[in-house]
Amino acid sequence: MQRVHPEDSERQDRIEVRGGGPLEGPVAISGAKNSVLKLMAASLLTEGTFTLRNVPDIDDVAVMADVLRAMGVAVRRIGDALVIERPAAITPEAPYALTERLRASTAVLGPLLAGTGHARVALPGGDDFGPRPIDMHIAGLEAIGCRFEIAGGDVHATADNLVGDSVLLEFPSVGATENVMMAAVRAKGTTVIDNAAREPEIADLAGFLNRMGGQVTGAGTSTITVEGVEELCPVDHAVVSDRIEAATFLAAVGMAGGEITLVGARPDHMAMLCRKLGEMGVRTSPDPDGIWAMCTGRLRSVDVSTLPYPGLPTDCKPLLVAMLSVAEGVGIVTENLFSGRFRYVDELMRMGADIRTESHHAVIRGVESLSGAPVRASDIRAGAALVVAGLAADGVTAVADPHHIDRGYEDFAGKLSALGGDVRRLRPVG
Ligand code: UD1
Repeated sequence: MQRVHPEDSERQDRIEVRGGGPLEGPVAISGAKNSVLKLMAASLLTEGTFTLRNVPDIDDVAVMADVLRAMGVAVRRIGDALVIERPAAITPEAPYALTERLRASTAVLGPLLAGTGHARVALPGGDDFGPRPIDMHIAGLEAIGCRFEIAGGDVHATADNLVGDSVLLEFPSVGATENVMMAAVRAKGTTVIDNAAREPEIADLAGFLNRMGGQVTGAGTSTITVEGVEELCPVDHAVVSDRIEAATFLAAVGMAGGEITLVGARPDHMAMLCRKLGEMGVRTSPDPDGIWAMCTGRLRSVDVSTLPYPGLPTDCKPLLVAMLSVAEGVGIVTENLFSGRFRYVDELMRMGADIRTESHHAVIRGVESLSGAPVRASDIRAGAALVVAGLAADGVTAVADPHHIDRGYEDFAGKLSALGGDVRRLRPVG
């Protein structure tokens, strides 16, 4: 990885953070990235005009909009809404130039197959935290009548006749569960997905499909039943709140101290995280507006293990590692979902953190304080964790490659700064 030298950092797009005072006040939590991308894909299921509300203004949404546009769909943003006009005829193809920028574009497979009987989607490569295969998506879709062929880096799929069946997922994969749900909604007969993922974004997708006229029950549990229907209609739908963005602000208040309210956050979607943060010394409680949170004094170490929902989200892990690096004691973090998701650890160590990684474990010995340094974001959550770490560091932390953060956070620096954090987005001059 290319190292940022302090003299270069002036010329780079970056987020600069100065550690210091507490965070205070309300912060609005946006709609969930991991939901809206799938809802946009689901709009391929039928002709007509869809409106999605509470849509975060983030780069991943812009890329997914381009994926839809490449197929002939019109997508316009109006305020926090996205208006999607899906014409009768579309080109059911997602090109590599877009899928390599957005792995979640594989979510178009199911809706394209159900909506047009065809799909050609360029396979995205691996990413910074390991391989991201789609074998479970394919096995699940094959079980209900889709046929696949992989050639030239593309997945070619056809579905002349989707027929409901039982689909037993090897692992509760979020993406596979969603793809099968979106195809099964138009299949003939009943599909039962067992060992389904239970994430709140899956329940949001089920709500969206049901509003369209689908018959999906059990979303949010491990068994989802989809009765195929012949007709669907376009709808207006508000995206569920982003629990990972909310978690990021909880981590921020844990690091900087203070008292904040996450407006629009869903405490019922964050129970495990709030429990762990409580053990670490971050108090949270449901509030009429969302979630109230307060932290005073030094954090305490805990052991954490990532698991599918309702376990601790893997997406929160970099945030927890950052928090543990200044907590009192030793904490062990175990990653159970992705093979290598510890790249940001080197960057935290540049800031003075004491972390040892071995296979899918990280052992973090809390230090009294971090020291600001030039560091580089390697993915969305790692980038956010480095900014959050900067809140508890002496001096200046300059996080390079903030475009990773822009993929999933709407105005991250602006929201932190409105809470009183000394955080600025600096763009290169000239
Ligand atoms: C989604 C989220 C991501 C989150 C992850 C787990 C989106 C856009 N992304 O990703 O932020 O970290 O859920 O909560 O919603 N796997 C296979 N074969 C497959 C599918 C998955 O081996 O066909 C493996 C993956 O490599 C990974 C594990 O299963 O090790 C979980 O992946 P999955 O739940 O599918 O995550 P995504 O849907 O890709």
